Amino acid sequence: MLLPRNTMAANPLELQPYAQLDDEDCLQRIIAAKAALGERVVILGHHYQRDEVFEHADFSGDSLKLSRQAADSRAEFIVFCGVHFMAEVADILSRPEQVSILPDLSAGCSMADMADLDKVERAWQELASVLNPEETVTPVTYINSAANLKAFCGNHGGVVCTSTNARRILEWSFAQRDKVLFFPDQHLGRNTGAAMGIPLEQMVVWDFDLPMGGLTAEQIHQAKIILWKGYCSVHQMFRPAQIENFRSEHPDGKVISHPECSYEVCQLSDHVGSTEYIIQTIRDSAPGTHWLVGTELNLVNRLHNQMKPEGKTVQFMSPTVCMCSTMFRIDPQHLAWVLENLVEGTVVNRITVPENVANSARVALRRMLEISA
Ligand code: 13P
Ligand code: SF4
Repeated sequence: MLLPRNTMAANPLELQPYAQLDDEDCLQRIIAAKAALGERVVILGHHYQRDEVFEHADFSGDSLKLSRQAADSRAEFIVFCGVHFMAEVADILSRPEQVSILPDLSAGCSMADMADLDKVERAWQELASVLNPEETVTPVTYINSAANLKAFCGNHGGVVCTSTNARRILEWSFAQRDKVLFFPDQHLGRNTGAAMGIPLEQMVVWDFDLPMGGLTAEQIHQAKIILWKGYCSVHQMFRPAQIENFRSEHPDGKVISHPECSYEVCQLSDHVGSTEYIIQTIRDSAPGTHWLVGTELNLVNRLHNQMKPEGKTVQFMSPTVCMCSTMFRIDPQHLAWVLENLVEGTVVNRITVPENVANSARVALRRMLEISA
């Protein structure tokens, strides 16, 4: 039976008792709830999820793969083990009667929070004082952003990108207009622009706390990409010195990094790409390869364990623990709680994007899916 679109928890099972359960109890309860729900539920798991959650995913992937999965899903309930913007994308791309659920509503993305609609609209207006942005600037938002920023891009001839398709999206964007306003991650924008041959001087940083982004009219006219001053707190921890140390100890070793890392780290890496690309490249490498990896700890640890039997070593880039603390908020206790509520006929932690925002955001997301098909 389909629940009405705005069903709220009539009598939700309280979360509190679940906090007392250990992971093993949760494991059994998640398996039982999934079995009871059958094809009515699909669990999507991002690669950064902890193992005790990740093992329950029907589909795992990076942001692009999971957004395609959300669009293709036929299940009534899409339980997204990831962060808030991902569950929003699932709601926007799924059919109206499908329900998108985020097991812990506090699982956000600190980088996504670095851009908000007020600041982006102000930037657009300020740019309008030196050029006509509707004719000269394509707004591109990384998928790690709120739905209303995707809607902004949909309304202004722009598009969404992920770390997998950023280059193709920028190529498309430059075919539309001369410049790109790229938010919220300056590093993905800069690394992609540099790989396309755009000189660093033509990629300027827009400081959203300063009038005109802290830039002169001259700098804006010269720029090809205007980079929002956002970053990922996890990926900014990696340093060139960590790569240099690794290379001196393992001259034949290979280095692979996510494009949210700094320009200097990416320049020193042998390979740069999304989480899905990192997994595939390490899987395809020769036995005996020693890898240094610049991305989130849960994924690196999982790869290390999976690759050990093949004689490959997968080492985390930083000597200190840096994991995505918001991804980590999705734990087996919250997953058991949302699934058992569904079994009882109650939806908790539903993510709903208002229809007017969803319609415009869908334009920008569908453009992305078409360009990267
Ligand atoms: P991917 O698109 O590679 O999954 O990256 C998403 C993300 O949040 C990385 O920090
Ligand atoms: Fe956001 Fe960084 Fe976490 Fe990815 S790793 S979800 S960009 S905070």
